[in-house]
Amino acid sequence: MRGNPHPHNFQIHMNESLPESLSHQSEGELLSQLDLELLPRHLAIIMDGNGRWASLRGLPRIAGHREGLAALREALNTAFDLGIPILTIYAFSHENWNRPEDEVSLLMELLGEFLHEEQQTFQEREMRFLPIGRLDALPPLAQSLVHIVAEETHHFTKRVLAVALSYGGRWEIIDAINHLFSDIQSGKIASGPISETLFEQYLTTSELPDPDLLIRTSGEARISNFLLWQIAYTELYFTKTLWPDFRRREVLLALLDYQRRERRFGRISHAVTPQSES
Ligand code: FPP
Repeated sequence: MRGNPHPHNFQIHMNESLPESLSHQSEGELLSQLDLELLPRHLAIIMDGNGRWASLRGLPRIAGHREGLAALREALNTAFDLGIPILTIYAFSHENWNRPEDEVSLLMELLGEFLHEEQQTFQEREMRFLPIGRLDALPPLAQSLVHIVAEETHHFTKRVLAVALSYGGRWEIIDAINHLFSDIQSGKIASGPISETLFEQYLTTSELPDPDLLIRTSGEARISNFLLWQIAYTELYFTKTLWPDFRRREVLLALLDYQRRERRFGRISHAVTPQSES
């Protein structure tokens, strides 16, 4: 009989392509193995596990989010310093509105804190802040700050930090369809077959290439409604590390794992590609 004989024991193995020896190496050793020419151009991250990190220490969930913000800063610095130009982070999903009011308020406060403190860094790094999601659902203060920083950094093209706020992948696709439909109805674009290229122009990430690598922390192997259209060919990396513990070393491990993958985009492996006749 085919199939998994132990269905209840089935697990996605985390980081399975990484050799065990890497886990004992220093940051410097990991860094020396990284090919800086082969970094992802666009890295997407689902930052998960803040609540569990706090519970394990007998702390309120809010403490986990605070530490999560520190981890976010470290991951951003590491990625941008290495030369990855585009990062998209899942900071707040549609579903997160269902959390207790005080947790939602704190997350909004942390967003404000982050934007205030990073305002200078955005300028220094020539980094664009690109908020994606249903921004009109955010509280007025957060909304205006988000718009101000987005406006101030709009002209930067060197680096992009896209932050998903009140975001849902299905919402984004439906929203794109509605806008496209309305543009067809008003005659702004000609009716006719819709191509992928045209459709993508209506997504919140229309100015970005698709992510090359998506990282999710905390041992959950799910996409949770993040960038559903954009990750069609993205490499996925799941790690058991909780987000607040996902520091520089963990970023390097994820990138090393990515560099061991062979991206085929639906084609056959280079290893078995027949030699060209010419
Ligand atoms: C998921 O962990 C994390 C979030 C819902 C929020 C992510 C926020 C931060 C990393 C810090 C704030 C940053 C900004 C820019 C607002 P969880 O709470 O679901 O963890 P759990 O699954 O262990 O409960």
